[in-house]
Amino acid sequence: MKLRTIENIDVRGKYVLLRDDFNVQIVDGKITDSFRIEQSMPTINALRAAGARIAIVAHRGRPKGVRNMEYTLQPIADFMGVQLIDDCLSKDFLSDMSDGDVVLLENVRFYPGEEKNDPAFAADLAQGFDIFVNDAFAVSHRAHASTVGVAEILPSCAGKLLASEIEHLSAVMENPKRPLLSIVAGSKVSTKIGVLKALAKLSDTLIIGGALGTTFNYAQGGKVGNSLYEADQKDTALEILDFAAQNNCQVLLPLDKGVAKVFERDAVRINKDFTQIEEDDVIIDAGEATTARDTAAIRAAKTVIWNGTVGMAEWQPTWSYGSFAIAKTLAEQTRAGNLESIVGGGDTVAALEACGVKDDITYVSTGGGAFLEFIEGCILPGIAILEDK
Ligand code: 3PG
Repeated sequence: MKLRTIENIDVRGKYVLLRDDFNVQIVDGKITDSFRIEQSMPTINALRAAGARIAIVAHRGRPKGVRNMEYTLQPIADFMGVQLIDDCLSKDFLSDMSDGDVVLLENVRFYPGEEKNDPAFAADLAQGFDIFVNDAFAVSHRAHASTVGVAEILPSCAGKLLASEIEHLSAVMENPKRPLLSIVAGSKVSTKIGVLKALAKLSDTLIIGGALGTTFNYAQGGKVGNSLYEADQKDTALEILDFAAQNNCQVLLPLDKGVAKVFERDAVRINKDFTQIEEDDVIIDAGEATTARDTAAIRAAKTVIWNGTVGMAEWQPTWSYGSFAIAKTLAEQTRAGNLESIVGGGDTVAALEACGVKDDITYVSTGGGAFLEFIEGCILPGIAILEDK
């Protein structure tokens, strides 16, 4: 897909409404992961250097159309060193702006018109601006006023981050170096059916891990104890395994697990295979044999796509074992020039960050749901509208 991009437009002295995804984790008023903000900076800097007057529109959390200061963007404005305009529909500040100035508009999801893509709200948001730039890949799967509505009103184009996401993700899907291994984990089969099928079709090997893997083990009659899994997804899991077989994709399911008697960070870890799992065991991480097999599969691959941690990676070090082993092996193989590694999803990227290997990965996507939908082959409405036809 060819997109209209900022390189082709003259923005000097123009009022640019820039959509960024600043939906970042904030704990006690402090940003704990600034990756999305950092990845947005090349577009902001390019627009500033070209003399645009930039108002960034963004969201945080799901305040459901109500002004709830728990979701204010103030910590992000502070982090960026820019002024926060406390109402995203305010236009008063525009007349004070000079070329190269940047402000951040308060959370656009404080208005119900945003998620409904209400045309009147989109018109209010667009009013006073000359150009709309969408750099928010991570929210482009949502047809909201700030992703689609304003693009229908203003001349619009893609920012550098959005263009880069499309370029890298399209390349791996259209022409991957083989063997291609995909690793999909996380908690729910029901949210990943589409991506599992798409990756089963595309990949030579598919590892299914985490609670997702537990559901597949359950579907095949394995013991899962008191663990998180979806009993009602049994048929779907079996159907996905059939689909993979029809598409000559080898599926690797968990062989063993790190289990405990309670679902707690400090719980004592025991390694068990599925025949040993007892009624009161809780699966919290991938097991040792599974991890050894999965890291060997990574070493045999030329491309790896990874989404979803295979255990509670944030409960370090006991329960991050499986996810960190994947992260480190991906990094080691990528550094050695043996592998192209593509990683997406908030928890997965956090795991890379936590074991200090994010910079070794070939491409780290800022998308969570958007990453999955793009890989699935869905048309993302916020991107489709920027197509250069
Ligand atoms: C994300 O964090 O994945 C995006 O910002 C989209 O957020 P949403 O799922 O609340 O729409």
